Amino acid sequence: MSITGRPQDHRSLPASLAGGSDLAGGFPPGFLWGAATSAYQIEGAVREDGRAPSIWDRFVIRPGAIFQGQTGDVAADHYHHMEEDVALMARLNLRAYRFSIAWPRVLPQGTGPVNERGLAFYERLVDTLLARGIEPLVTLYHWDLPAALEDRGGWLVRDTAQAFAEYAEVVARRLGDRVRWWITQNEPWCSSYLGYALGIHAPGMHDKQLAVTVGHHILLSHGLATQRLRSVLPHGAQIGIALDFYPVYAADERPETLQAVEQADTFRNRWFLDPLFRAEYPTSLFSVLGVAPPPVHADDLAVIATPLDFLGVNYYSRMLVRGVIASSAASSPGSPGYEVIERIPGAAYTDMGWEIFPEGLEVILTRLHREYRPKALLVTENGAAFEDHWHGGDSVHDWQRIHYLQTHIEALSRALAQQVPLKGYMVWSLLDNFEWAFGYSKRFGLVYVDYSTQRRIVKDSGRWYASFIAAQRR
Ligand code: FCB
Repeated sequence: MSITGRPQDHRSLPASLAGGSDLAGGFPPGFLWGAATSAYQIEGAVREDGRAPSIWDRFVIRPGAIFQGQTGDVAADHYHHMEEDVALMARLNLRAYRFSIAWPRVLPQGTGPVNERGLAFYERLVDTLLARGIEPLVTLYHWDLPAALEDRGGWLVRDTAQAFAEYAEVVARRLGDRVRWWITQNEPWCSSYLGYALGIHAPGMHDKQLAVTVGHHILLSHGLATQRLRSVLPHGAQIGIALDFYPVYAADERPETLQAVEQADTFRNRWFLDPLFRAEYPTSLFSVLGVAPPPVHADDLAVIATPLDFLGVNYYSRMLVRGVIASSAASSPGSPGYEVIERIPGAAYTDMGWEIFPEGLEVILTRLHREYRPKALLVTENGAAFEDHWHGGDSVHDWQRIHYLQTHIEALSRALAQQVPLKGYMVWSLLDNFEWAFGYSKRFGLVYVDYSTQRRIVKDSGRWYASFIAAQRR
């Protein structure tokens, strides 16, 4: 469907977009319709109740690191608005909520003494969700490594993987009787490459060799934590990991472009998938990156490939690539032998500059099912930033987000029709929040946040999602 006008509110949207929707019936009963957030992006309260700094608290104060020098010190102040936010989730008819636990709230030094007040916050959150019939999905790591661990080498040292498993056990012992869904790591590609090669995320380093070492230790942390969680959690607990995926498309049919597709796919999708599901790194990964392999010890890959209950899929867009001529400087070792096409004539983009490409979600889900056979799949993030405007009333008209969500949900139903064992869908994000290097300039929420008053206003997309969920069978 092409959208040409700009309706004033969702009552004037085409019937198929205006709520309810004709998608009902395609989704299995018990499908987890939800929304996602992460600790540093929404909580604020960074110096309260015994929380110690994370690598993000340090990174945000670096000059030039974040849009307008913004920080997560206050964010959406969810730490103090937790009850109100869970009530909002109930208004949105959410059946599930994915959130992350801040490691430095629970173990301020990364290891050692447990901070009771930190754990108590998450226990209250879980109990409040359950009281409203909302299924909690816990992410153990969404990028906020305790700064104390960074001082001991952070993800560059193996000990941090062990520390993560111990932290996972602390949380599981406390919440495991109430939380069924566990996600170890969120987007290790971003933690590794954006943090250690491109320097645009904490801790802000610029060395690809370090990025592959970090990637390996994060994978190891996932494997060790999965084993630890399994030994502590009751039977029936669902343990997985959330990876970010970009299906790669060829801009033309030249042989160098087809090779470019392979390279980009290895780098962007298979780097973490293959060790997790095949106990090996893709053979060309390190030559594509122009680095030496990371320090892999004897049993590491077996630990990393510990069987999972589900794979979490974070999907935002695709990659369109074109091969570059082999002799050009851009294809020297360590530089990708391809060019990513950022602007495609006729394509629509979000406020992040990401192409809106719903078909890619169907493509990645069916491919993962076909090639990697995870026991189950869960869309752990999907959503869009648009320039939302609030004029002081009780609505925000974001028809583009409704369109984005609806077309992506249609892609889910096509994947389900192809037997993909899909269990749920989490919109990124429940609330507008701190979008990392972009600060508060990008709004992804179903709910608008007026940061000067911390007032929450449900956007039209939130209302649309609520009525869509209500129209589904339980
Ligand atoms: C993902 C992150 C999430 C958010 C979205 C837009 O890569 O997991 O925290 O920033 O992108």
